[in-house]
Amino acid sequence: MIKVSAPGKLMLFGEHAVVHGRPSIVTAVNHRMGVKVEKRNDDKIVLEAPDVDVHFKTIRLEDLNREKFDKGSCFVIAAIKEFFKKYGVESGLHIETKSEFSSKIGFGSSSAVTVSMIKALSELFGIKMKEREIFDLSYKVVLDVQGVGSGFDVAAATYGGTLFFVTGGKIIDRINIDKIPLIVGYTGIKADTPTMVRYVEEKKRKYPDLVEPLFNLHERIVLSARECLEEKDFEKLGEMMNFSHGLSVAAGVSSRELEKLIYAARLNGAYGAKLSGAGGGDCMIAVSAIEKEKSVIKSIEKVGGIIIPVETNVEGVRVENV
Ligand code: PMV
Repeated sequence: MIKVSAPGKLMLFGEHAVVHGRPSIVTAVNHRMGVKVEKRNDDKIVLEAPDVDVHFKTIRLEDLNREKFDKGSCFVIAAIKEFFKKYGVESGLHIETKSEFSSKIGFGSSSAVTVSMIKALSELFGIKMKEREIFDLSYKVVLDVQGVGSGFDVAAATYGGTLFFVTGGKIIDRINIDKIPLIVGYTGIKADTPTMVRYVEEKKRKYPDLVEPLFNLHERIVLSARECLEEKDFEKLGEMMNFSHGLSVAAGVSSRELEKLIYAARLNGAYGAKLSGAGGGDCMIAVSAIEKEKSVIKSIEKVGGIIIPVETNVEGVRVENV
């Protein structure tokens, strides 16, 4: 039996612009998704994923390519299909998934489970895969299932750390830094990333002269934020967050709930705050001086935000002891 885990992620800078060829910064967080996989002696794939309400879902190998699979199991099944196809192997499998975070908060459970599955299968079948190969195959799976996405979440799950990332993995650069003192507030509202991505695409089609410059500014902010991270200049990093968030507001992807949390943080001592990810819900992030952290946290909670303690910059996909 093989046990593997991969981290969730938070996008720090460059959301949406990254889908359109600009760079972004993403960090891997210490909330992990785990899979346990073992071979079975028959032709069945059995999946137990209690976090997404999947209980002993059973699929015959010959039906792998036929059925359409529901939300809870589609990434795991698609990962198996692609892996079998690419390496010409096949076996019945028993799979259990277990997440340390809810699939509702936007930490990237789909990509983390996909990357974990690909890594677990490579171990199970004795096929050596480099990080790049795990990324490429997992990104293909995620794109096939989801239809859109830059793959930044797949990169975070695979490589871990904090990454400078360009869509499709054209650039995946490790940024050499220590932990980032991030405060994370969850709005309580699940965002639908593909819908938000299509919304911004539509905006770009309608107003290219307005939206392209927003993307260009995102790029400038990402470059500056990278320097701030490397120099541990968290005050300026906060200012970059505020600039970045202003662009997201202009693109129309913020929400009243996000604004409530972001303004609470800003008005109570944060250097800066922004939405993280597609927008429309999920999480906001803030940085502040250490002595102001408590008041920032309290203020976010006071307006209904749920604080999610995170450690940033954690290890990518790894085999765990069984
Ligand atoms: O909503 P999240 O956390 O999955 O982030 C989406 C970020 C986008 O740039 C909007 C999409 C993408 O795939 O890069």
